[in-house]
Amino acid sequence: MNSVRKISLFPSITRKCGSAKVSVRSYTPRRALMYVPGDDLKKINKSVTLDVDCVTLDCEDGVAVNKKEQAREAIRGVLNAGKPTKNRNYDLSVRINSCDTIYWQDDLKACLTAKFLPDSICLPKVESSATIRAFLEETSNYVTSTKKLDLIMYIESAQAFINLVDICKTAAELSKESHFTPAALVFGSDDFCANIGATRTEDSLETLYARQKLVLVAKAFHMQAIDMVYIKYQDFEGLKRQCEQGMRMGFTGKQVIHPGQVAIVQESFVPTQSQIEWAAGLLKSFTEHQNRGKGAFTYKGSMIDMPTMKQAENVIELIKLVKNA
Ligand code: COA
Ligand code: MG
Repeated sequence: MNSVRKISLFPSITRKCGSAKVSVRSYTPRRALMYVPGDDLKKINKSVTLDVDCVTLDCEDGVAVNKKEQAREAIRGVLNAGKPTKNRNYDLSVRINSCDTIYWQDDLKACLTAKFLPDSICLPKVESSATIRAFLEETSNYVTSTKKLDLIMYIESAQAFINLVDICKTAAELSKESHFTPAALVFGSDDFCANIGATRTEDSLETLYARQKLVLVAKAFHMQAIDMVYIKYQDFEGLKRQCEQGMRMGFTGKQVIHPGQVAIVQESFVPTQSQIEWAAGLLKSFTEHQNRGKGAFTYKGSMIDMPTMKQAENVIELIKLVKNA
């Protein structure tokens, strides 16, 4: 439809195979990225029964300081047994401790020398490109298989936001020779607010600039953007409001701390039925008008031209990718 080559907003990997381009890795949705404390086997066992896009076994803030070793051992046990199967595909991730702690190397060793690797590693408190270099250097001691893992980078301080473009450039450049593909940026709102001295409010105005910047840079580097945790996990209306806000801003998913949040989040990070109908109708009308030589036209009372057509394409592409994942 569009003669300009379209670069997808939603990263999957295609490679050339003869003259054809084939998809070698499909899009991995992370509408809900759910934390499960790594030392809590009951919660781990429950998490893999849930219909959730991404299960993140946590070594970091969800685990007490005196339970770090227990968490590592439990996570290693899960990985050694092979990725638990569910009735659909999902991302099995491990969040290690940050590189400025005494724990992260042991966390990495425990999960990267297990019999089976996780699909992704969540790296908290990325402060600068030096964090990425240190992480990749350390992982090169362990990952020997040809499997590529996704790298999910946490941006949660003023310094990290100042260095954000550099962090992403470094991760993208080094990914060519490493075992990691930079796949997502995560906004760590509570650490961020603590770092800048902001007070959390219900409308989240204090995080607006940071959230917008995170989405902008993530999309510039073809990565997913994962929004903040809603910590009042029994307030479903508040959660829904914040999901809708994040979706409108361009986030592709949200961090989740409780099973009760999963369905609301996952339903929020796909287009609604009325958005799908709007987009499908618009695309049909766009083609008809293009064929008649009209670049701009009216659809449901609004002027439509190429940029709106691209937004409609995003809606249809996202729903197809999530359905087929
Ligand atoms: N992953 C998997 N299962 C979870 C879960 C999680 N994150 N949180 C709760 N559950 C399970 C409980 O074990 C319980 O299971 P059951 O019905 O089989 O007994 C069920 O869901 C209901 O849980 P509930 O009793 O409402 O909550 P809780 O008191 O057990 O736990 C929290 C509340 C907040 C402590 C818990 O949700 C949690 O630890 N969340 C993750 C926190 C975290 O990782 N923080 C760091 C990242 S921000
Ligand atoms: Mg944090």
